[in-house]
Amino acid sequence: MTDVQQAVRERYGAIAASVRSAASNSGCCGPSACGCGDPITSNLYSDAETSGLPPDAVAASLGCGNPTALVALEPGQTVLDLGSGGGIDVLLSARRVGPTGKVYGLDMTDEMLALARDNQRQAGATNVEFLRGTIEAIPLPDNAVDVIISNCVINLSSDKDAVLREAFRVLRPGGRFAVSDVVVRGDVPSDIRRSMELWVGCIAGALQDTEYTDKLRSAGFIDVEVEPWRVYQIDDARTWLTDMSIDVDRMAPLVEGKFASAFIRARKPEAKSCCGPDCCR
Ligand SMILES: C[S@@+](CC[C@H](N)C(=O)[O-])C[C@H]1O[C@@H](n2cnc3c(N)ncnc32)[C@H](O)[C@@H]1O
Repeated sequence: MTDVQQAVRERYGAIAASVRSAASNSGCCGPSACGCGDPITSNLYSDAETSGLPPDAVAASLGCGNPTALVALEPGQTVLDLGSGGGIDVLLSARRVGPTGKVYGLDMTDEMLALARDNQRQAGATNVEFLRGTIEAIPLPDNAVDVIISNCVINLSSDKDAVLREAFRVLRPGGRFAVSDVVVRGDVPSDIRRSMELWVGCIAGALQDTEYTDKLRSAGFIDVEVEPWRVYQIDDARTWLTDMSIDVDRMAPLVEGKFASAFIRARKPEAKSCCGPDCCR
């Protein structure tokens, strides 16, 4: 386990434990207090989506978008959520793929898996399975899923190429990648990049939008789109930088408008069809 993985596990393990013990939610994707007013995690889902979900699945929502709103899910499909946390996007997907479909949630943090399984039981979702493992080495066979979703997790990885390679491997030909993530637009100060606390809060590890596109194409994906939808402004930056050993007044203007939550979409090409005795060789 890398230092980043260890720090991420400790951070999100503590959040899961606090949600499970009904204590106040003390941190999230975004280093400030979570929930109301948090610039990254707040106001991501409609009331219609969250109604009927277990309250702890909603309370543990730590994403930066709504990946299930990005993609058409059909009954009978298989979906994989990379870094499924308390399970909110898994449970939303499970409703849409129905009893003939299947949704896997993958997470490396035991406390999050325990919370997600409690939420699954409360929701009565029988078409769901939470897997323990890392997104850099997905514990599923090749060509196993129709759709990959993820919500504010890939930025946390210190080996994003491995994550995208693995995502490509487990997707079926023609399968879709529909992810919400934080991206960077332009250069950001090195103090920000070096902060482990900002890394585990989904800020320091974010890829540039152009890098994301390049990495997805290098992994083999086509039809790649990175679409920022919530660009963070100076007051949001102040929220992240407060309480850290970072000079807020110097740094906030340098990160104004540089970070955004984005929808990231891509597709694995269809398998080549054979057209004659020689053309598939
Ligand atoms: C910011 S939270 C997002 C959780 C969930 N996607 C949501 O929207 O609420 C990040 C989650 O990803 C998990 N995670 C982070 N890095 C991971 C990795 N390399 N492999 C597996 N899980 C990881 C953490 O344990 C945590 O549950």
